[in-house]
Amino acid sequence: MTAGSLFGQGAVIKSCCAAAYESDWAQLLLGEALHPGGLPLTERLGRQLRLGPESHVLDVACGQGAGAIHLARRFGCRVTGVDYSMRLIAQANREAARSGLSELVAFQRADAESLPFARGRFDAVVCECAFCTFPDKPAAAREFMRVLRPGGVLGMSDTTRDAQLPDGLDELAGWIACIAGAHSLDQIQTDLVQAGFSIGRVEVQNAALEQLVTEVRRKLIRAELVTKLQDIQLPGVDFKLARRVAHQTAIAVRDGSLGYALIVAAKPEHGAPRQPPLRQAGRDPLQVGEMPGSSSRPRSS
Ligand SMILES: C[S@@+](CC[C@H](N)C(=O)[O-])C[C@H]1O[C@@H](n2cnc3c(N)ncnc32)[C@H](O)[C@@H]1O
Repeated sequence: MTAGSLFGQGAVIKSCCAAAYESDWAQLLLGEALHPGGLPLTERLGRQLRLGPESHVLDVACGQGAGAIHLARRFGCRVTGVDYSMRLIAQANREAARSGLSELVAFQRADAESLPFARGRFDAVVCECAFCTFPDKPAAAREFMRVLRPGGVLGMSDTTRDAQLPDGLDELAGWIACIAGAHSLDQIQTDLVQAGFSIGRVEVQNAALEQLVTEVRRKLIRAELVTKLQDIQLPGVDFKLARRVAHQTAIAVRDGSLGYALIVAAKPEHGAPRQPPLRQAGRDPLQVGEMPGSSSRPRSS
């Protein structure tokens, strides 16, 4: 499938992606936080954004809401979460009520490329492991920019891809697995800069992706074994395809074609002046300590 034909199938990709992540199957394989690094990486993002009780945060593509709920609990901020999947939104609202955090956290269905909020409504936008799944990334970046107040901050973590993928990963299954639609770290920054953001901090978090892929492969083997032993049929589950995608992903992560990164950016206080070209980027205003296994770098040149 070419990038052009994928782009023309934007609605199909969004629906397939939402359907995949709302399945019990995805939640079994990935756990409560549907991204590499889990809630510790979400919390790290929250610290870098300097969230506090005064912050109103938008979590774009929030999945089942674990990250949004964690941010509210940990930093006392208000969080609005949006996702394309109705089922995940219902699940997230149930979980917020169960956690006693409904006062702080609310979820509603929305498309990241067309957010139903007024300009300047939020202090911070968070988007974890989802930018890679959006067919129109520049549109989503412009929406993040629009809904942030001047001086507001964006915290993203996302899959990065630096090489051609092996056959089979560049298809819909690869897109849903956050691989086929992933861009290089430089391209992600370019999308953000073109939307008007200035990049603060970039951290390479490849170890988190490697660990997630290892866990998913282990859980896949266990699940396949159990279904065989108990002679259970799981409708809609294609073990062969899942194994192939997981195997090829592991190879791509090992050889450095796929990675994971955390990016912090800001909306300028006054207007939205374009950032100078990438190589002239300024110093990081949001430095924090290193996470074991991570590496950070200022904006790439
Ligand atoms: C890998 S999951 C990440 C979920 C969550 N951010 C987390 O880290 O737990 C990707 C999520 O993106 C959502 N998604 C995909 N396309 C979307 C879109 N255009 N607008 C809103 N959500 C979208 C999917 O429904 C899915 O929940």
